Amino acid sequence: MPVQIAPSLLSADFARLADDIAMCEAGGADMLHVDVMDGRFVPNLTFGAKVIEAARRCSDLPLDVHLMVVEPERYFDDFARAGASILTIHVETAPHLDRQLARIRELGCKAGVTLNPATPLAMVEEVVGEIDLLLIMSVNPGFGGQRFLEYSVDRIARARRMLDAAGSRARLEVDGGITRDTILRCTRAGADTYVAGAAVFGAADPKAEIGALKRAALEVA
Ligand code: DX5
Ligand code: ZN
Repeated sequence: MPVQIAPSLLSADFARLADDIAMCEAGGADMLHVDVMDGRFVPNLTFGAKVIEAARRCSDLPLDVHLMVVEPERYFDDFARAGASILTIHVETAPHLDRQLARIRELGCKAGVTLNPATPLAMVEEVVGEIDLLLIMSVNPGFGGQRFLEYSVDRIARARRMLDAAGSRARLEVDGGITRDTILRCTRAGADTYVAGAAVFGAADPKAEIGALKRAALEVA
């Protein structure tokens, strides 16, 4: 599967969101990653449907919406209406995972599932046939610019085996601490899609960095 990069708008300049989104498009971004945080599931607060809708108006790129919120199902309808393409929920917030994923698909969005770094992968094993994207968190969610947790590489490899064993064609995405250095280890372990916040928006040339990350990911030995 071709490598995809989803710059995380969390690290964008909110006073110039439209410019930053245009820059991502020009740099070859495949999706835009939108981090929704509620100050409850994670210790930080970001934004909701209004910003998703604003991003939708600026771009035709798929909006990869990562819900770091308790009771995520409360937001599915609003976010789908605002233009989300993928809704990814945390298993830690989803006691009725099967029902919640079905509802996302019913709304016409792709269904993603993710887990905190310390949550066993087995938590998603039963639903791998029902998802379009499996997101491996490689930092504890809540903030951009954190250091990549090295044990994520082994989790990616095990997640890859799990998807393959189930015959799933879901994308395997990694979020947190992705840089030109960490990305290659993730691709080698079987990931194909990357969120990048600080690496893109903190780069000297953010537009060029998107391509640089893709090339770094593809340098498979
Ligand atoms: C972390 C968010 C990430 C974050 C990644 O809670 O889910 O999407 O924006 O940022 P970087 O790439 O800076 O680690
Ligand atoms: Zn995220």
